[in-house]
Amino acid sequence: MTVRTIIMTGAGSGIGRAAALLAARGGDAVVVADVNEDGGEQTVAAIRDNGGTASFIRTDIAQEADVQAMVQHALSRYGQLDGAFNNAAIPQCAKPVHEVTLAEWRRNIDINLTGTFLCMKYEIAAMLETGGGAIVNTSSGAGLVGFRMGGEYSASKHGVVGLTRSAALDYAALGIRINAIAPGGVRTPMVTACFAADPTLEAHATAMHPIGRLAEPEELADAAIWLLSDRSSYVTGACLAVDGGYTTF
Ligand SMILES: NC(=O)c1ccc[n+]([C@@H]2O[C@H](COP(=O)([O-])OP(=O)(O)OC[C@H]3O[C@@H](n4cnc5c(N)ncnc54)[C@H](O)[C@@H]3O)[C@@H](O)[C@H]2O)c1
Repeated sequence: MTVRTIIMTGAGSGIGRAAALLAARGGDAVVVADVNEDGGEQTVAAIRDNGGTASFIRTDIAQEADVQAMVQHALSRYGQLDGAFNNAAIPQCAKPVHEVTLAEWRRNIDINLTGTFLCMKYEIAAMLETGGGAIVNTSSGAGLVGFRMGGEYSASKHGVVGLTRSAALDYAALGIRINAIAPGGVRTPMVTACFAADPTLEAHATAMHPIGRLAEPEELADAAIWLLSDRSSYVTGACLAVDGGYTTF
């Protein structure tokens, strides 16, 4: 079996970690990229304990030099880049739009949207050199519909969908498929931290999902890994809602 090399951002926690573990179980070499060094190293250790191949590189996706180094790390260590899961992001600051400061707006857009753009820019350049690949970006249900108290986050995640669809058109005939996933509520540190701050939120969040529960990170990882695999060979430019029906009504 050919070993594929896949970059996964935000793989030090939550959905990214679940996807990194799943990819490594399938035989992929995984580049774990995150600002969180402890989390990233823990993901790598868990993969290696299971006999998989992974390495960590500290990456702030909003910093162009970090992103270039991340892609270079994949190429120099594993020889090529076959896939990327651009998943790192920060949450909303939970304020109505008029209370969001310009600095808060810029930080969210810089990481969630510009960071995703930077990752794609350098990953695509590498894939064009080494024969194509597949990219999956993490948007959100908030990238498909409005999100109360999360204007800057929703704007960044709508941007990820537009960027995904547009780039899919640019590279469809060049052997690079580009898709997005749009999670609903997923039980990860991003969300459990909110529940800890306001215990009434969990019941409220659950009620917004017709399926009657939040997702586990592994359920999102499955979707991302499918979109990264040849089993989705005719899918490009899609934004797959994995949201228990959250955006259906
Ligand atoms: N959990 C949910 O309910 C939910 C819902 C919709 C969308 N999402 C999206 O799913 C993705 C993963 O979120 P999660 O729930 O696993 O959250 P998480 O907080 O568990 O993981 C996010 C990871 O991204 C990393 N990160 C943050 N800023 C970074 C930066 N500048 N550079 C590199 N890494 C950075 C964090 O250190 C963390 O390890 C995000 O894009 C998020 O917006 C999550």
